[in-house]
Amino acid sequence: MSDKSSFLSQEALARYRVELRDKGTVLVAPGMLFTQKDLAKIDRLQSDIPEADVRKGDADDSHKVFVKRLREDHPGRLPSNVNGSASTQIIELLESNDRAFALESIFGASSQYVIRRCQMHRMPPGSFVGIHLDAESDPDFEYSVIVQLAKDFEGGEFVVYPTERDPQVFRPLLGTVLITTCRFRHEVKPVYAGERRSLVYFCSKHGGANRRIIKNSAVGR
Ligand SMILES: [Fe+2]
Repeated sequence: MSDKSSFLSQEALARYRVELRDKGTVLVAPGMLFTQKDLAKIDRLQSDIPEADVRKGDADDSHKVFVKRLREDHPGRLPSNVNGSASTQIIELLESNDRAFALESIFGASSQYVIRRCQMHRMPPGSFVGIHLDAESDPDFEYSVIVQLAKDFEGGEFVVYPTERDPQVFRPLLGTVLITTCRFRHEVKPVYAGERRSLVYFCSKHGGANRRIIKNSAVGR
């Protein structure tokens, strides 16, 4: 049986929970949710996963980022793992009892969350993720969790645009975990040196089929 308090103290969890509730975004310090060993394991496993060059998001937003997909979440379907055992092993690490308990505490949740989508982003110089809303990919996305896997890069700031507050700019360091509500628009500014790499996953209380309705279907065109 895992020790549910092994990651963070109750005080730290409460501090992060209040910040997430009040501001919609919180940056969890390195070493709190993922050890160096966890990060090294993720890095080792992800090398087996194929990579796609992505230029558009789900709402036709503009991106330039290399993406490795671990779990997909398509309209009308249940989330499903893709790309074999490397993806499965990384997701098992994310879903470990301790980590899930710590995250649900930060979310302020009274019920369990599921990971609906999971992917890795590699951003060499010139890459960016344009302004978008995660909830447009799946209306049940509540929080996105972004684990920073690289340290030697410049640019690549994560900017959140809360609806009734000033924008927040984050410069995540290696091992930090940024948690943000999927209800605020955000972007990743262009990377101009080095390579930014992150693991991104989207959490929801809804475990059923993706309830997104595509209004202007391009199917068949
Ligand atoms: Fe996003």
